[in-house]
Amino acid sequence: MPADSVAPAQPNATRDLLARQREFLLPVQSSMLYYGDRPLAVDHAKGDWLWDVEGTRYLDFFGGILTVSVGHANDEVVEATVQQMRTAGHTSTLYLNEITVKVAELLARITPGRLKVSFFTNSGTEADEMAVMAARTFTGHRDVISLRHAYSGRSASMMAMTAHANWRQGGVYDGHIKQVRSPNLYRKPKGMTEEGYLDFLVDDLADFLATCTDGKIAAFMAEPIQGVGGFAVAPADYFRRIEPLVREAGGLLIVDEVQTGWGRTGTHWCGIEHWGVEPDVMTFAKGIANGAPVGATVMTPEVAESVRAFTLSTYGGNPVSMAQAYATLTYMERHRVPENAEAQGARLRARLEAMSAPHPFVGDVRGMGLMQALEMVVPGSQEPDAARANALLNAARAEGLLIGKGGRWGNVMRIAPMLNVSAELIDEGCDRLERALARIA
Ligand SMILES: Cc1ncc(COP(=O)(O)O)c(C=O)c1O
Repeated sequence: MPADSVAPAQPNATRDLLARQREFLLPVQSSMLYYGDRPLAVDHAKGDWLWDVEGTRYLDFFGGILTVSVGHANDEVVEATVQQMRTAGHTSTLYLNEITVKVAELLARITPGRLKVSFFTNSGTEADEMAVMAARTFTGHRDVISLRHAYSGRSASMMAMTAHANWRQGGVYDGHIKQVRSPNLYRKPKGMTEEGYLDFLVDDLADFLATCTDGKIAAFMAEPIQGVGGFAVAPADYFRRIEPLVREAGGLLIVDEVQTGWGRTGTHWCGIEHWGVEPDVMTFAKGIANGAPVGATVMTPEVAESVRAFTLSTYGGNPVSMAQAYATLTYMERHRVPENAEAQGARLRARLEAMSAPHPFVGDVRGMGLMQALEMVVPGSQEPDAARANALLNAARAEGLLIGKGGRWGNVMRIAPMLNVSAELIDEGCDRLERALARIA
């Protein structure tokens, strides 16, 4: 069936697929399906739209967790993938591949500061692992500081980096990875000014360095906007204030842009450019290749030089994934995605604020660019309301709109349209979300 036609209704197709999934895939995966009440079985998707196997069409404002960045089945990305498959599908990193070098050159050009050298893997988890490995080899120090509410992936070390109790399991933790308080203006201590809150966070880090480390660290690693953490945006001066402490302790600044990368936050290619600091290492995945499994760790030349032991990722830099990354990134450049995310993000934000105003259960509207959130709380308090968030997820689906959910308490709606979304579709999605809010009021 052509990708942009409407599928014929197939009643019970979802139920049948769910039964097979429950039998043959890890049980917890079935309990997490779409996070809502009813699983969604995908038939096909094109551009901003997705169809389920029963023939229902949805406007996709979550993009497979901020990963489909320039539209489902983007013609240019599909064409590049097929071409590369026909040319050389896999060769391993033991051979030179021009497409891999081309992506690395492009990343050096559009990432900020002195970032230049890339290492490619298959996921955000591996990109973050590589960043920590490089920081430890470069500094000779062990301790790495991350933030509470961070999500860094599913390997043993990255679960240690992750500070959401529900995403840490297996009991294998890296004792050299520790978390300090994360910035979240909505949840700052009552009565504290924004300036006082910044002092409080900086003091917490200073105290932590003095009491929980020997004063030397390998790195401080953070997301500019915590993705899984519920789109909590760091205050404007946050990174400028903590950077001197990190440098004084001999540590590198690692910025995880797995969710914030590639124009998502508007205006700039990378989220951290809004905060005015230059990281030593940055990590990317998700939107970089419109859904192909690509992780990228980009570092300064001297950090890259320090990695001397052999390291290899069989599929990392795979020519097919790289062709997808190159097609995605060049499409983004030609369509000026950061500018579009700024303009459409502002349009989205204005509508979100207006539609939330009558509903006291929306405690906070926050985000940047095309990465916006609504935090659901018990009216008159800041108590997280996960049940209301679930209800909104289901109501949005009933209106034919896909959005996401996140935050430690599962009460934050995550809204992240495609980076090339049009103004008309922002309006369409907002109309649907407004009706969904009315349904649960
Ligand atoms: C900020 C951040 N870092 C790392 C990861 C891990 O990426 P992956 O799931 O590709 O391993 C994620 C995944 O959601 C993420 O949001």
